[in-house]
Amino acid sequence: MSSGDQLYEQAAAVLSANDRQTWTAPARGPYPHQWLWDSCFIAIGLAKINPSRAVIELLSLTRGQWSNGMLPGMIYDTAVIHRWEAGIWGDQVESPPGVTTSALTQPPLLAVAVSLVAETLTAVARRQFLDTIWPCLLAYHGWLYRERDPDGSGLVSLVHPWESGWEDTPYWNQAMSKVSPIHTSMGLIYWLRGFDAGERASGDEVGHMRSQLKLLEQVDFDSRRMLKQSAVQVQDLPFNALLIASNRALAEMGEQYGYGVPINLTTNFAAAEAALDELWDPASQQYYSRDRLTGQLIKRPTSATFVPLYAGVAPLRRARLLKNLLTRPGTYWAHYPVPSVPVSDAQYDERRYWRGPTWVNLNWLIIRGLEAYGWTTEAEHLRTTTTQMIARSGFREYYSALTGDGLGAHDFSWTAALYLDLAGNQ
Ligand code: GLC
Repeated sequence: MSSGDQLYEQAAAVLSANDRQTWTAPARGPYPHQWLWDSCFIAIGLAKINPSRAVIELLSLTRGQWSNGMLPGMIYDTAVIHRWEAGIWGDQVESPPGVTTSALTQPPLLAVAVSLVAETLTAVARRQFLDTIWPCLLAYHGWLYRERDPDGSGLVSLVHPWESGWEDTPYWNQAMSKVSPIHTSMGLIYWLRGFDAGERASGDEVGHMRSQLKLLEQVDFDSRRMLKQSAVQVQDLPFNALLIASNRALAEMGEQYGYGVPINLTTNFAAAEAALDELWDPASQQYYSRDRLTGQLIKRPTSATFVPLYAGVAPLRRARLLKNLLTRPGTYWAHYPVPSVPVSDAQYDERRYWRGPTWVNLNWLIIRGLEAYGWTTEAEHLRTTTTQMIARSGFREYYSALTGDGLGAHDFSWTAALYLDLAGNQ
């Protein structure tokens, strides 16, 4: 058996160990609940080994959908929820009966995952799957544009860093500096979860997040009131780029398999493609997120700038500039790329969460983006270094871009799932 085969089997074993029958926990111990974008990445990998289980993973997300269409970032496993957790992650306001969820969303990758899983199914199974999940997809995209882009600008706004999936990234830290932090002692929480505090968001950062959560609670997590009252409103780059990728997946599936997309949504989709342009900064030749209230780009360099490559929305000239930025030695092209913050940046922190480490889900998006633009050499290099990093340190939550050391949770589901997808394509 080659070492590649062994790794493939180990990846499948990680997913079965984290399997909760109808959904998969991101990791045993620290992450016992279901998370929205985790389940999407997990389903993409599961489709390689067990397509019907991948279908179940995605359908299980629909049980948490609010009556207004929102898909929550988290659906709690009520058997293991700690009393302090519900308070930290938000009220349940409109969770469907019998399900408890967080009140914020997460990156909208569901339509992409649905289309990748659908391709692996028989025609009959695909029809059944799409018939069931289609209304959920339309309601979710409808909610995002109706509630989070009330002016029809084409860009949706996030009101909390947890929605972005990149909670302590430098651009969110800058956005959150408008909020006064609530003192939070994270030491005990990290200890309970078995984390090294130096690898997680700092106490101050979490203090800002809790404070913003309090404000959102006061307006009952009502998006319209949030957009009237919150000082923090970010047109988050990776979120909007992934939404475009999902819009495209939705439109293509509609065409290919005969499902309708309402006209108001297709209008939103067109506006989104054009509006992403506004997040490009010609001076530094990269994309950034934007503060909705000031209209200013938040110019903190992060690997988020490469996510538009995945969506295929960067025009070729710009995509070339991004590829050059990605592969410039000493910035993003570290020993184990792609660091979430360039290693040369003053904000770079080798071991801390989204402030420097390499994440496999981001690498997967960038690899697929490079391939779509035809840059197979760079994509192959990144696929090889990603595999080497996993072979060296196991299926970790994130890794040092300098040494490949594993960081955060062990036996992490999306790392295992995306390994299955990348290895299956050799
Ligand atoms: C962390 C990550 C987030 C992920 C969650 C569960 O909060 O920042 O992106 O979804 O863990 O894995």
